[in-house]
Amino acid sequence: MNKTSQPMSALALPSRPILVAGATGAIGSQVVRALLARGAQVRVFVRSPEKVHDLPPEVERAVGTLEDRESIVQALKGSHAAFYVSPHDEREEQFAEHFVSACEGAGVRLVFSGVHASGTNRLSRFMQRTIFGLLMPHYQPKLRLAERVRTSHTNPVLLMPGNYFQMDEVCREELLAGRYPLPLGRIPRVDTRDVGEAAARALLDASVKSGGYALVGPESLSGEDTAVHWSAALGQPVQYAPNLAEMDALFVRAYGGRKALDCQKSYRLVGKVKMGTSAADLRQTTFLLGCPPRSFAEYAQEVAAGWQAAGPPVPPHAGPRLPSAAS
Ligand SMILES: NC(=O)c1ccc[n+]([C@@H]2O[C@H](COP(=O)([O-])OP(=O)(O)OC[C@H]3O[C@@H](n4cnc5c(N)ncnc54)[C@H](OP(=O)(O)O)[C@@H]3O)[C@@H](O)[C@H]2O)c1
Repeated sequence: MNKTSQPMSALALPSRPILVAGATGAIGSQVVRALLARGAQVRVFVRSPEKVHDLPPEVERAVGTLEDRESIVQALKGSHAAFYVSPHDEREEQFAEHFVSACEGAGVRLVFSGVHASGTNRLSRFMQRTIFGLLMPHYQPKLRLAERVRTSHTNPVLLMPGNYFQMDEVCREELLAGRYPLPLGRIPRVDTRDVGEAAARALLDASVKSGGYALVGPESLSGEDTAVHWSAALGQPVQYAPNLAEMDALFVRAYGGRKALDCQKSYRLVGKVKMGTSAADLRQTTFLLGCPPRSFAEYAQEVAAGWQAAGPPVPPHAGPRLPSAAS
């Protein structure tokens, strides 16, 4: 089944644009891609328009910052619905309040992707937030802002993705050298392209009911499972070799700043957790996608083929290539 044409093909597209925040990021960029693949009008909310120079010219650019609520209000004018993902920033609750209240004012549906408590009533979500917040104190603001989305007057849809498959790309060099250093107990994981496609469905299809939806791949994956998939995809042995110091350095190298810190803290827990993928979560994902989610094996094969076609990686911080003596 063509993942970009189902299950939206029979639906009329809205005549107004969808506003996408975080469009330069891991998830927002996939939401933009999925919306464009469906022929929807898209408006991106960005602080640096030069970062989206490669998007087609018909994509509207609304320049602003989450620090400035008024810039969000302006960007939402005439829009049909909005997508929000919370950035790695110590002000994330304030940013979310700006975005959510602006959506309430504009009367548009808000589709959110992030961590949230999945209970159906406030008490069960409070209990979940308390337990989760004790295990992961740095997630407390994320859980509070998700509850703000959940209880907002925006007919909200909350997507709760598992760990992104694409996180593994921070250790490209290590995988090519036969080592998988990120600690993974056993957790649900998902392809960011499927998150983008599920979000596009919720943004365009008013029949998708308000509430929380898990987004998962077909199976939970341990570090060992993940290494086995990379071995098969790369055609060479890859050992699971979790190493916290190496992981910390990888996130600093790939992201730096607050995002590196958040990833370092999250993977300290992720390395210990053992969580199966429930049939109910897989049903929710399949419902939103209109087909089963991508498997990790499929993802790893695509990425490995791309890496092998591109040749050996350039070492980080290697600086510009100098002409060789022979040239
Ligand atoms: N990694 C995982 O496996 C995982 C799994 C589940 C949930 N999550 C959650 O997903 C969220 C991160 O999503 P992501 O990976 O898509 O993030 P990301 O790749 O770091 O992207 C963040 C986006 O927010 C934008 N942004 C940051 N500050 C802004 C501001 N002041 N005004 C306007 N835009 C701003 C960035 O734009 P610029 O280009 O201008 O910086 C970028 O487009 C986190 O809340 C995390 O907890 C992650």
